[in-house]
Amino acid sequence: MAREQSNERMEKLVSLCKRRGFIYQSSEIYGGINGFWDYGPLGAELKRNVKDLWWRHIVHQRDDVVGLDATIIMAPRVWEASGHVDTFSDPMIDCKTCKGRFRADQIHEIPCPQKPSKMVSECHGEKTEPRAFNLMFTTHVGPVQDDSSLAYLRPETAQAIFVQFKNVLETSRQKVPFGIAQIGKAFRNEVTPRNFTFRSREFEQMELEFFIKPDEVIEAIHGRVAVPEGKGHPGEPQPDWGWQMWHQYWVEERIRFYESIGLPRASLEEYWQTPEELAHYARATVDILYQFPFGTQELEGIAARSDFDLSQHERYSGKPMKVFDDQLRAAWKELPEEKRQALWQRYYEARLGYLTRSGVDASEAGEMARADADALAKGQYIPHVIEPSAGVDRLVLALLANAYSEVTETDDKGRTETRVILRFHPRVAPIKVGVLPLLRNKPDLVRKAREVRDLLRPHLTVFYDDSGSIGRRYARQDEAGTPYCVTIDFETLGEKDPALKDTVTVRDRDTAEQVRVKIDELPAWLLERVR
Ligand code: GAP
Repeated sequence: MAREQSNERMEKLVSLCKRRGFIYQSSEIYGGINGFWDYGPLGAELKRNVKDLWWRHIVHQRDDVVGLDATIIMAPRVWEASGHVDTFSDPMIDCKTCKGRFRADQIHEIPCPQKPSKMVSECHGEKTEPRAFNLMFTTHVGPVQDDSSLAYLRPETAQAIFVQFKNVLETSRQKVPFGIAQIGKAFRNEVTPRNFTFRSREFEQMELEFFIKPDEVIEAIHGRVAVPEGKGHPGEPQPDWGWQMWHQYWVEERIRFYESIGLPRASLEEYWQTPEELAHYARATVDILYQFPFGTQELEGIAARSDFDLSQHERYSGKPMKVFDDQLRAAWKELPEEKRQALWQRYYEARLGYLTRSGVDASEAGEMARADADALAKGQYIPHVIEPSAGVDRLVLALLANAYSEVTETDDKGRTETRVILRFHPRVAPIKVGVLPLLRNKPDLVRKAREVRDLLRPHLTVFYDDSGSIGRRYARQDEAGTPYCVTIDFETLGEKDPALKDTVTVRDRDTAEQVRVKIDELPAWLLERVR
């Protein structure tokens, strides 16, 4: 029953998305293409708001994060260094009876070919053994199509950040700890795209790589490494924070962000990956899950990735990724010999662990790790990284699911009608305000309404609507998730009560309450409520 209800809810959401122009199937007139989705007029605004808010929160409102906008196609060696060429694969199996192709770990549920939002069980035909299927889309660069021109569409935006780390460091006047943020398209040839836009083959990511000092460096400089003392937000960043503090900080920052755009804390869950689930280089990963109608699933992952990524690019490109830290060099000189040796040893072992796990042979790894630990004593190290990585499309879907509500109303003739209200947080709402002249055939009302529209337009997304009854127009805006509607009526013209001249009615989507606001105070009144 619960499954049926959630399927029904998803079906309603998918159909609303199409009907109101949030999300359409890509290439629909040609029968569509599985795993690809287009955003219509309202969806494009919603998505843009999500990305703008993330950027504002992560980049503009901080001193220690800068942005990057890199290409989708990069040198193929990037993906060898990152491990994607060798290991970015899902286990795939084929069904010998129905000829379907599935992810081995999702065989019990697949999206219905007719209704992708609905899950159906697969046939019981004999299956092939699972085999690794690399998820990267390939292409060729230039006119010759052979192995030498092979390239990949990026499966994540993160790698460009690592590859450009040194350039950004040298040109942005940032010092570790600092972050580089990027929003952009990513492509994965998912074996079974599913749950509407949740698992797509083309999607957008919002990723932050926040570079921090290794704990050995913190200890050398500050004599101690601050670690979390409990749950919750650890407060303003401090110079003695180790990786665990930074990790907890970013988990809490990201949850606060979700709350600030309308996802209640109760709809989110933190999932700490178990040691068996963690990637070999990761020290901890927390997935932030959202209670989607089809189940509680990942919205974002926040990983403490050690110095793996920059180390890989250092080895594969031959270009140094170390930073020089004069505070470390000065502090190291002052350390007692015993402490120096202990920190040297710990750093050496960490580097050796990375190198041997990455396949470097034992004697070479030992030499390289020794050189790295010697460099530490001279003030040089490869930064570690905390990576909050979120999907734009998943967040848009979560916001739609969270906003979806139905109300059933009975009119004065006893007819009942169920209609949809999208209760978006005003910050993400695609349209912030509807401007509605009470009647379209009264030139004075229309003129005034257009004046109000033009007054608001420089500040907010406005939708001007003069067709149909005022009730219908309110309902249309409710369905689009518009938090406020402004109606220009005869009182605005001062025809009934001169005291009300140049005031308008503002209706609240969620309470349906109406208040009168002076036109010249309207921009500030609305901005205060939608930002
Ligand atoms: N750089 C780390 C990384 O890419 P990930 O967990 O594979 O980590 C991060 O992806 C986020 O990207 C996910 O939490 C999800 O929101 C989004 N994402 C991943 N695959 C996706 C897909 N096929 N469709 C839509 N969003 C996806």
